[in-house]
Amino acid sequence: MTAAYSLARDVPLHDWNTFHLDARAERLATVHVTAGLPALLAEPALRALPLMVLGAGSNVLFATNRFEGCLIHLRCDSIRIVDDAGGHALVQVDAGCEWDALVDWTLDHGLQGLENLALIPGQAGAAPIQNIGAYGVEVGRFIAAVHVYDRQAGAFDRLPAARCEFGYRDSVFKREPDRRIVTAIELLLPKAGATNLSYAGLREELAAMGGLQPTPRNVAAAVRRIRRRKLPDPAVAGNAGSFFKNPVVTRAVAVELQSRFAGVPVYLTSTEAERKLSAAWLIEQAGWRGVREGDAAMSAQHALVLVNLGRATGPQLLTLARRVAASVQEKFGVSLEPEPRIVGATFQPRRA
Ligand code: EPU
Repeated sequence: MTAAYSLARDVPLHDWNTFHLDARAERLATVHVTAGLPALLAEPALRALPLMVLGAGSNVLFATNRFEGCLIHLRCDSIRIVDDAGGHALVQVDAGCEWDALVDWTLDHGLQGLENLALIPGQAGAAPIQNIGAYGVEVGRFIAAVHVYDRQAGAFDRLPAARCEFGYRDSVFKREPDRRIVTAIELLLPKAGATNLSYAGLREELAAMGGLQPTPRNVAAAVRRIRRRKLPDPAVAGNAGSFFKNPVVTRAVAVELQSRFAGVPVYLTSTEAERKLSAAWLIEQAGWRGVREGDAAMSAQHALVLVNLGRATGPQLLTLARRVAASVQEKFGVSLEPEPRIVGATFQPRRA
């Protein structure tokens, strides 16, 4: 029988983060059976240590060379249909399932909705935390519930979507990062219906692929093509996708920016009082696209992606990111907020 978990000490993290930073962790717990979590958390060796769940390490920047705590990595990765009646299926997915493999699984089972989220790196358990989104779709709209271990209550819990407080790259899990460990998600996925083509680039991509019909599979293929072209490959240049969130400002601020700067992209949000700006555009206009400082750079391929071109350290990447944010603040009066989790430092824009 497999042990519920295993514990390792002084673990190199190079292969555990997509920035490929050479940090180390005091402990790494690999959990094979979710039911083993309470026993793991009760281990005397872990009692005094900060804990952090680490999935695929695709949305984290280690700003310290050593994480003096215990990383928890969930391995369970089964997917099962819980309810198949009617026009939807309810699918339960363990936190350790690789996200893109899940997207393929849903398409293979005639389910749709996740095709716009193809090729997003990471594990399914991370998806609700920052409510992953791309090409006009956020995962929150398909999440029926999130299963967690609630460390505060010392018990397993199931949060229906209404309790998850999903927002743009935001959720209750992100706002209370140390409280819950996501163990599984429940997705309610349609079996038919129109695909989401609200992102103009997606329609253009399907046209460029020979005028393909917008079936879920074709949409997934188009999304994969766009991502491969636009976003730097972490295997080539370490990165965590978008490094900043697209800033949300009042409508008045957006109108004022449009009057001062020609061509500033402004997107609608769910509230009439607010607008979303393009962080990539602001960064590029402030002159940072492709700028390299040592091995830290803002990608020449996409201005929003902070990249490690070789041997950059966490602090070097963070220094560049802070300078970019300070420069955007100075030029446009807009503050940028990092999207990935930063471990061992707080983010404050700084000119130096
Ligand atoms: N743009 C530039 N310079 C660039 C790249 C983009 O000026 O180098 C401008 C263009 O005007 C473009 C606009 O920015 O039209 C938006 O760019 P893009 O469509 O690539 O989207 P994004 O707003 O930069 C967001 C998500 C991505 C997601 C894409 C597609 C955030 C923080 N990022 O990026 O998510 O894939 O939309 O939907 O919301 C991620 O979260 O890691 C991520 C990659």
